[in-house]
Amino acid sequence: MCGIIGYIGGQSALEVALTGLRRLEYRGYDSAGVAVVVDGGLRTLRRAGKLANLEKALAETEAGLSGTTGIGHTRWATHGGPTDTNAHPHTDCTSAVGVIHNGIIENFAGLRAGLEHGGHELTSETDTEVVAHLLEDELATLVRDGSSLPAGTNPLTEALRRVCGRLEGAFTLVVVHRDHPDVVVAARRNSPLVVGLGAGETFLASDVAAFIAHTRNALEIGQDQVVEARRDGVSITDFAGNPVEGRPYHVDWDASAAEKGGYPYFMLKEISEQPTALADTLRGRLSDDAEIVLDEERLSTQDFRDIDKVFIVACGTAYHAGLIAKYAVEHWTRLPCEVEMASEFRYRDPVLDRSTLVIAISQSGETLDTLMAVKHAREQKARVLAICNTNGSTIPRESDAVLYTRCGPEVGVASTKTFLGQVAACLLVGLYLAQVRGVLYGDEVARYVERLQATPTLVRETLATVEPVRALARSLVDAKAVLFLGRHVGYPVALEGALKLKELAYMHAEGFPAGELKHGPIALIEPGLPVVIVVPSPRGRSHLHGKIVSNIQEVRARGARTIVIAEEGDTIVEPYAEHLIRVPATPTLLAPLVTTVPLQVFACELALARGLDVDQPRNLAKSVTVE
Ligand code: F6R
Repeated sequence: MCGIIGYIGGQSALEVALTGLRRLEYRGYDSAGVAVVVDGGLRTLRRAGKLANLEKALAETEAGLSGTTGIGHTRWATHGGPTDTNAHPHTDCTSAVGVIHNGIIENFAGLRAGLEHGGHELTSETDTEVVAHLLEDELATLVRDGSSLPAGTNPLTEALRRVCGRLEGAFTLVVVHRDHPDVVVAARRNSPLVVGLGAGETFLASDVAAFIAHTRNALEIGQDQVVEARRDGVSITDFAGNPVEGRPYHVDWDASAAEKGGYPYFMLKEISEQPTALADTLRGRLSDDAEIVLDEERLSTQDFRDIDKVFIVACGTAYHAGLIAKYAVEHWTRLPCEVEMASEFRYRDPVLDRSTLVIAISQSGETLDTLMAVKHAREQKARVLAICNTNGSTIPRESDAVLYTRCGPEVGVASTKTFLGQVAACLLVGLYLAQVRGVLYGDEVARYVERLQATPTLVRETLATVEPVRALARSLVDAKAVLFLGRHVGYPVALEGALKLKELAYMHAEGFPAGELKHGPIALIEPGLPVVIVVPSPRGRSHLHGKIVSNIQEVRARGARTIVIAEEGDTIVEPYAEHLIRVPATPTLLAPLVTTVPLQVFACELALARGLDVDQPRNLAKSVTVE
């Protein structure tokens, strides 16, 4: 949600901002704007719609925006519709200060009323605009009491610190001022902000993709901190003005990883990258003595031994990965494991204590619902382990330990390769817990790990055989709805297949446990309705297999078109499948790593057949930074 870039250096700030915004498009947005400090003035241009609208307006504008200090923003509307006026940057009454923002300022109504009472004229419906006017007031106060500022303190930086102290909610703010062309100032609370450190230039952005073409040296910014960016580096303080250090890190992927690489869509590229992404998640995770290797560990083996309950919190696709993990964690560790949508978790007062392990799964590491669940868990003294794909993001920083999925940047809004990474990471955690708690022996763990290590090859084999799935998807372009059924781990896979179809093809799609069908949803079955059934292996849990074969017959008897996903060699399902999609045989608990793949391809192809943009589905944002 909302893409942010700030720049100060030797290049054209406008060019850097536009290139950065293009790389942040994937986050989801509905308007865009830029502001550049130009010869003692601030030039701002904003347009509703896609970046192309802004670029067209820029090409038509006579007043140039040539300067080396500037900001750029893509907005995902919250307060006020996606109009030119509501687009960022926002300015104060004198058009001296330019502000861009990600998040929601919850007390904006009261602040706005106070500003208007004081004579300020606000022109947009946004919560952001109040910040520009508050800065105007604070700067005026600082000018009046000029002597109270310590030497070397930039008034804009001090003004932003003071303003942040008055804001409630979540925000990343980046600010420029016509009278302070030598700084760009930013602040963050519960919203993403990273610094890029180049040679004689500094970047501020929502994520590293915005500046990866210029530098791979990044700096994490902590909670409630203000950054003053100059050409030669940054100074960071807390909101009270106390100096703090950022945590430097090197981005381990380059600009080419965030490009389409010959594919027409990022999503197609990311689906095809899954064998490598999965292998990267698994690589080097178990030491010789079968200890799991976490990336940042502030938990001891004893802490893991002392766990008596597991909660998994996540949203959307990551939640589905959590649902799969539950089966493995309970089966391998004999610990109770609950999976909860992060947005609901803290509102129902879950029973947590220091022997509870909370696993927070998030691709972006910035999902506010998940972040708030993590904070709640830690307040209740639970141990929190993050499974995350984005280095330097907030959720891992707020957790006790982190396991990065290392899938590389995922630009398509719909999660694909990171879902497989999340499932694999959860399985590793489950095995580790089982081992330290003495429920599984080392050789049993090793056998599972060996099977896990084989899954990238199985995913490659699956991808090599999905062409008929594409043809099938194209043939269903006019379908009104699709149902997805599964049992055991096939149930979360069914949910994920339905979610992919909803978000990409805008079709009504529902996932159900196949056994639940007869308790209501079977009324939805009508002749010709496509029903996708994820069939468990007949080898591992044969009772499950038999049950689902009955479920297939139930829907067939009512005229549904049955699309069956079954493993190689499962001949029992053949008579009941109108369309049979084969996947390689896997142990039951690892099966989602292969059965999900045809469903991703199915949704993607159906959406393309409907002429839709699979990388940026309507209304969606890649990184959901509001609750
Ligand atoms: C669906 C999708 C979303 C995300 C969800 C959580 O394809 O991508 O449902 O899974 O918004 O996002 P993260 O994993 O970044 O916390």
